[in-house]
Amino acid sequence: MRQPFVAGNWKQNGSLSQNKELMSGVINGLDSGLTVKVAVCVPYIYISQISDMVASSKVSLGSQNVSDQESGAFTGEIGCSMLKEFACEYAIVGHSERRAIYGESDDDVAKKFTAAQKGGLIPILCVGELLEERESGQTEVVVERQLSAIINSSGVASLKDSIIAYEPVWAIGTGKTASPDQAQDVHFFIRSVIAKYDESVSQSVQILYGGSVKGSNAKELFSMQDIDGGLIGGASLKSDDFLAICNAAG
Ligand code: 13P
Repeated sequence: MRQPFVAGNWKQNGSLSQNKELMSGVINGLDSGLTVKVAVCVPYIYISQISDMVASSKVSLGSQNVSDQESGAFTGEIGCSMLKEFACEYAIVGHSERRAIYGESDDDVAKKFTAAQKGGLIPILCVGELLEERESGQTEVVVERQLSAIINSSGVASLKDSIIAYEPVWAIGTGKTASPDQAQDVHFFIRSVIAKYDESVSQSVQILYGGSVKGSNAKELFSMQDIDGGLIGGASLKSDDFLAICNAAG
């Protein structure tokens, strides 16, 4: 039985005062009976603030990126040991915005994935196809290539201690959600790729869906067999919207 998981990805949003309001809404509004695990992945600069706020709550903390290096002359980078000092548990790696805007390759993402695990963080590995890739029937090829980069460099067992997020790029921030069936098909495909190497890892790894998830469509998406929760962008910035999604996950 996989535990449902909902993570907010704030991207480059927030301010000290907005964060305070948002997080007190989330922390106070979370129903204590919920089985869902909830995390927020916040900009580096706010890790310290949010770490203090979530310390005695059920909410976990994550970063949106991580250096593939432990420490040293890497200007502008933040490493695992720094994040761990603030009780950070998760690091998103390979978000499509990092791949597309900052040119991160499958190989770069694999290095960050390995570094995160070595440094004691749980990577949230994002995979997903562009619109033109979907339209030209390349979805499975792209997702398998992105997954294989991790399996080839860290081994299939490494996926046991990770979370995968399927985020079709055409559904991110566009209001165009993948239909539950479209998302389920890719989630099932991801498990089948992993099962070629290890059946038990394929069944135990949590796979989240991301891309225009809202309170109104979350339940339908999360009820699909292979969808274990969501990675939430825009709707994680308002406590009521985020709570509605957490409630939909159980
Ligand atoms: P939206 O929920 O805003 O579409 O963003 C999804 C996402 O990119 C989460 O990582």
